[in-house]
Amino acid sequence: MDAVQFRSPQSPPDSFAGSLREGLSKAPKEIPCKYFYDSEGSALFEAICALPEYYQTRTEVALLRRHAGEIAALIGDGAEIVEFGAGALRKIRILLDALPAAQAYLPIDISGNYLREVVRLLAVDYPALALHPLVADFTLPLTLPARTGARRAGFFPGSTIGNFRPQDALCLLRRMREQLQGGGLLIGVDLVKDPAILHAAYNDAAGVTGAFNKNLLARANRELAAGFDLDGFAHYAPFNVKAQRIEMYLVSLKRQSALIDGEMIEFAAGEAVHTEDSHKYTIDGFREMAARAGFRPRAVWTDDARLFSIHWLES
Ligand SMILES: C[S@@+](CC[C@H](N)C(=O)[O-])C[C@H]1O[C@@H](n2cnc3c(N)ncnc32)[C@H](O)[C@@H]1O
Repeated sequence: MDAVQFRSPQSPPDSFAGSLREGLSKAPKEIPCKYFYDSEGSALFEAICALPEYYQTRTEVALLRRHAGEIAALIGDGAEIVEFGAGALRKIRILLDALPAAQAYLPIDISGNYLREVVRLLAVDYPALALHPLVADFTLPLTLPARTGARRAGFFPGSTIGNFRPQDALCLLRRMREQLQGGGLLIGVDLVKDPAILHAAYNDAAGVTGAFNKNLLARANRELAAGFDLDGFAHYAPFNVKAQRIEMYLVSLKRQSALIDGEMIEFAAGEAVHTEDSHKYTIDGFREMAARAGFRPRAVWTDDARLFSIHWLES
């Protein structure tokens, strides 16, 4: 029998295969969290949003509903709304219902097939709205279509900003400010709180967050025939008190290997792969960062228990 033939790595570094090979060749190993989101990952994230432990979505939705009128007045009539990491397009409906004269909606998401599916559903419910979906990675330079509305407003809910290290979050906010061409940004930010609440939110009893985390491996099996044994990895999501962030890992439960983009990657028993951070902010801490990014932080809304915050940042 011929010796096993390994393909030489050919995928570009910003592809799933290339990023996975590069991240799993590092010490310690890591996988960028944006790769959670193929259609399966997006559906799993939606399931997380409905979990009893995951206070973020229901708190943010309640805040949006309660303050929709005020928010609509700040955004103004005839605006074009750009949503970064749009997901299931649920939260935008609250804004659109309060902004009947919105000119256009540009949802941006990396999860292409999922975005196409949810945009079709939105188009049925909002037939008069001009829809310009964009399948793209918002961390890369992005050319948005020319502005059609009186002004542009950004929408970045879900505390996705928390998935970036503070220095990267600052750069991302700066870039968004440029893309908004003078328009404001409405952004949802998860707050520091009792670590037990945070720990429960990322370690749900039903194991949905674990399945979401393991979707990185399942996706590698589907797209790259990587041969991961999903039961050979454990979901691990501790709260790092010093850095004020949940850290998510996949921990190898045994010595094993997987073939990624032509390279055999070895995992030691107990070796951790870092898959996501979710930083938590104080209201003042986030407003300071937004100001450093060139925004003027204006209104901020929070719930009575101060679990979550929504900020209106002006350019
Ligand atoms: C935490 S979910 C939030 C979804 C939705 N905005 C919400 O509030 O429920 C993050 C969303 O951002 C998208 N996403 C993550 N990284 C991205 C990137 N680099 N570029 C574009 N979209 C990204 C994911 O596909 C997902 O829909």
